[in-house]
Amino acid sequence: MDNTTPASLLDEALQRHLTGMEAAAALALRETLGAIAQACVRIGDVASLGLLAEAHGMAGASNVHGEAQQRLDVIADDLMAGSLYECRHVAAWASEEHEQPHVSPAHGVQGSLLVVFDPLDGSSNIEANISIGTIFSVLPHRYRSVAPGAADFMQPGHQQLAAGYVLYGPATLMVLTCRRGVLVFALDRRGAAQGDAPQWVLMNDEVRIPEHTREFAINASNQRFWEKPIQRYVAECVAGDTGPRMKDFNMRWVASMVAEVHRIMTRGGVFLYPRDTREPRKPGRLRLMYEAAPMALLVEQAGGRAVNGTSELLDLVPDTLHQRVPVILGSRDEIDRIVGYHADPSENVSWQLFRTRSLFVQPQA
Ligand code: AHG
Ligand code: MN
Ligand code: MN
Repeated sequence: MDNTTPASLLDEALQRHLTGMEAAAALALRETLGAIAQACVRIGDVASLGLLAEAHGMAGASNVHGEAQQRLDVIADDLMAGSLYECRHVAAWASEEHEQPHVSPAHGVQGSLLVVFDPLDGSSNIEANISIGTIFSVLPHRYRSVAPGAADFMQPGHQQLAAGYVLYGPATLMVLTCRRGVLVFALDRRGAAQGDAPQWVLMNDEVRIPEHTREFAINASNQRFWEKPIQRYVAECVAGDTGPRMKDFNMRWVASMVAEVHRIMTRGGVFLYPRDTREPRKPGRLRLMYEAAPMALLVEQAGGRAVNGTSELLDLVPDTLHQRVPVILGSRDEIDRIVGYHADPSENVSWQLFRTRSLFVQPQA
């Protein structure tokens, strides 16, 4: 897009973007993305009020992962659920905050779509007023006329019809893909004084992640728990122009995946939350269905690559709704290199052990 292109709003932009898709399928996707976008406007309202809306602090309950919920986790989850409840195309949804999916009381039988989401990503940053986000994924509901159950959600990431995130930062941005490239919308609230509703304005319809980068993001406090391929990659980056890479790297860690991925969408880079040995039963920190898979689709649609170390994230078939997975994504050249380190027999002794013991076997494509 250039400066001469007139501003285009979400529904109109999607209509144009989905040209050629079967009409009923395109309408279902547009209305569903509209419902998600509407919920995210409300989440952004509450997030921006912060202390004023009593949105900070603990909710006093734990979620399915045993993590203490913050008030904003619960508020965001309720707002997403409320919006999806109204949407006639959504048969069921699943959230980080609930063990089981929720079947739509009104649309569970005839709805054609399933939605999975992380209502509030980066919860540890809420009180520090650092960027947070919402991540979402839209899947087909293949067996219509029967209300979906958890098994209907167990689809590999490459079956996602759409995926995206909303970043509540200095600006509120929505970045989404319908498998036809990546679109960026900005939330325009300038009409608020006149009583006009906020609008999502298309800012970029050709997002490309640079193939080369000198920036990586990892929580380095976990270094002693990493496996050899990750130790090698990070050590070589840190060695800079005196090491084998012969160039200096910079490091970032926001602890909001949405913010990290958005930085990569903007200027390239690598994000790593690898498997580590802190809790061997947990294959990584991030969740496959509502963190890794939607981000992987976005990154791949923008020309990057997303893997668990050895396999493409989009090929992994979930066993459970809340399955965890190692996540390594970003600029293609770097991800190719990291996959090469995992494949190098001299570098991956512990990795091979993990892969041959049943407890740690990765779902393969
Ligand atoms: P959530 O707030 O939904 O639980 O997700 C937080 C995730 C992710 O956004 C971030 O990259 C990572 O957790 C941060 O983990 P550490 O605190 O271990 O660095
Ligand atoms: Mn998250
Ligand atoms: Mn979350």
